[in-house]
Amino acid sequence: MPNYETTTISPRHHEAISDWQRRNFPELDLLQRNWTKHFGAQTPFALVAKVGPLRSGEVEVGRFRGAAKFERAGDMQGNMFYSARDIVRAQCSTELGSIQQHRETLEQAISDESKYAVLRIMAEELRHAYQMFWVLDHDPTWKKVGMGDVAEETMEELLAMTTGTHVLDAFNIRFGNFLDNAVYASVIDLVGKYQLQMQQVFAYAPMARSMGPMLSEEGFHMGSGRRIVAEVCARAGRGEGDLSMEDVQRALHCWFPRGLEMFGREDSGATNVAFGFKDKVNGEAQAEYVGEVRGIVRAWNLSFVQSRVPRLERGAAETVVSEIEATGDAKEGIRPEELVRLPDPRFFRRRGLMETALQPYDVAGSLLKDASGSPLQPEAYLRYLAGVLPEHYLRTEDFGRYREALLAQAVGSPAGW
Ligand SMILES: [Fe+2]
Ligand SMILES: [Fe+2]
Repeated sequence: MPNYETTTISPRHHEAISDWQRRNFPELDLLQRNWTKHFGAQTPFALVAKVGPLRSGEVEVGRFRGAAKFERAGDMQGNMFYSARDIVRAQCSTELGSIQQHRETLEQAISDESKYAVLRIMAEELRHAYQMFWVLDHDPTWKKVGMGDVAEETMEELLAMTTGTHVLDAFNIRFGNFLDNAVYASVIDLVGKYQLQMQQVFAYAPMARSMGPMLSEEGFHMGSGRRIVAEVCARAGRGEGDLSMEDVQRALHCWFPRGLEMFGREDSGATNVAFGFKDKVNGEAQAEYVGEVRGIVRAWNLSFVQSRVPRLERGAAETVVSEIEATGDAKEGIRPEELVRLPDPRFFRRRGLMETALQPYDVAGSLLKDASGSPLQPEAYLRYLAGVLPEHYLRTEDFGRYREALLAQAVGSPAGW
């Protein structure tokens, strides 16, 4: 028996989100018709909210620790009310945004299985958006005297967002090939997992009750992403397919920095902990995330090595990966540059700490310098980035926004970089 109850939202909002689905995700029908073929006896998709139990009825961290969790949004005061709304809004934006992104390159799937995995991810993200609508829809106290109907305004705004106007940068990047779907599900959905885990303590009870069921679905997203990338690496090891290890590397260069920034500034997050919304500050969660992505990259390399040298047992292949990484020398005919490396967290950052945001760091974490020893000028750094990012990404509006910010910053700071 599932550990949650299901419910629906008001017919008007239900219809609004269904209408959004018909426009942005018409492939849902295809998934539903073929559900049993791909996912067997697993409960078919349904557009419902899933309301799980609270881990604790009391606020678990921060200023209100020990007090009863808030059942009504209207009982949260001032900043706390708006911060809760901002988190719900950002969460919902990621769910809707990811559907818009996945759809663009769905038809480039490397197999039928991977296509249906992505379709299921999209359907579950739609349910997560619906879940956030439930949070806003079922609680009339989001409408406050003097503040207007915050729930209604937020839902309308969310339904109008497109790739380019979502809350977080990672959701404003157009996909260029199917590796984007898979690396994104591995690296960006993983940040989602951290957020959902932290938000299990959420002081506003309806949000806390939403986290468990969402988390259990996220497992499939990350698992699918990792499996698909591992399959790409295995094919590359056998010299099959159009996608190379270099393509995987470049996709990781594109997505990992945006994943890091989804945590917010490394030195902040204390307010969310004080409000009892999350149980970790940004830097702490981000550091754990970096470690987890490192493990994912290792598994991709392992998949490559095992398919390139099939006689190697898993343990022996692990040793080969470790030795290549540690020594920088070729092993079993595999050169270090054939393996994927996790970029340094300072690489290609645009937000966060002043020391790193828009600074010319290379993938290894060195600040690039010109011949005179001063940090690389923006034009030169853009040329460096063109050599390490996916070619299709360089043509996106998102990269255009980065370029503008980089050039504007150089103009705005007379002292240079
Ligand atoms: Fe989600
Ligand atoms: Fe997800």
